[in-house]
Amino acid sequence: MNTDSHRKELLRKLSRNLMVSVPVMTVVAMAGMSAVSENGLGLIPSAEAAQGEAEGEAKGEAEGEAKGEAEGEAEGEGEAEGKAEGEGEAEGEAEGEGEGTSEAMKEAVRRPEGYKPYEGDAESLARKGEALFSDTSLSSNGLSCATCHTNGAGYADTFSNEYPHFVAMGKSDFGMDKVHLDEMVQICMVAPMAAEPLEWDSEELAALTEYMRIEQEKFRQR
Ligand code: HEC
Repeated sequence: MNTDSHRKELLRKLSRNLMVSVPVMTVVAMAGMSAVSENGLGLIPSAEAAQGEAEGEAKGEAEGEAKGEAEGEAEGEGEAEGKAEGEGEAEGEAEGEGEGTSEAMKEAVRRPEGYKPYEGDAESLARKGEALFSDTSLSSNGLSCATCHTNGAGYADTFSNEYPHFVAMGKSDFGMDKVHLDEMVQICMVAPMAAEPLEWDSEELAALTEYMRIEQEKFRQR
């Protein structure tokens, strides 16, 4: 019960904050797209533009904050992985009020304790995942995964690496040194899709994750 309302509160904050921080990314992405949407090209540049914008924003914010935070973060990163919790706490304290945004987001995209993914038949999960991939109702801004990622578009080269691995957006926007594939799905859910993360034990998350595994295979063979 308690955890549940805590979670709801987090999500409420999250979606409120997203209204502020994500539109920049989205607007850039959308602007890039509508300029070229006739032929479907240009999605990569616009995605990159969006990312650059987000990074710029993150850096700008970081600079504006107390030095204490930078030190706290550096310390957390220097330690072994798996200390994500401690790191999150340190950052939370350092970031304080005005910055709340990413704190809820950061927590929301990390695998929760005792995480047990939904288990299902890989083939039917992949089929459901493929449908979800082009489902704009997953987002709050009219985008679907396919808007950015049709035919292998919009990924950095890191996508071909074995998970968990380093992803620029995971690091710059969420402070994660490495991300699992399901965490990457959640990152794209809350950041570019401006939505709430999927339930961790949901069939939807398992389906999208399974489908992304297949997308990764295709990406590797490009
Ligand atoms: C507005 C554009 C946009 C949308 C919509 C979007 N993404 Fe992404 N996605 C990106 C960008 C930009 C990157 C590259 C991030 C990086 O490398 O730092 C990315 C990277 C990824 C990666 C690969 C990360 C890696 O290198 O390992 C996966 C997997 C992914 N997205 C899944 C999804 C899924 C699933 C959805 C839908 C729920 C989605 N994306 C929706 C922009 C988008």
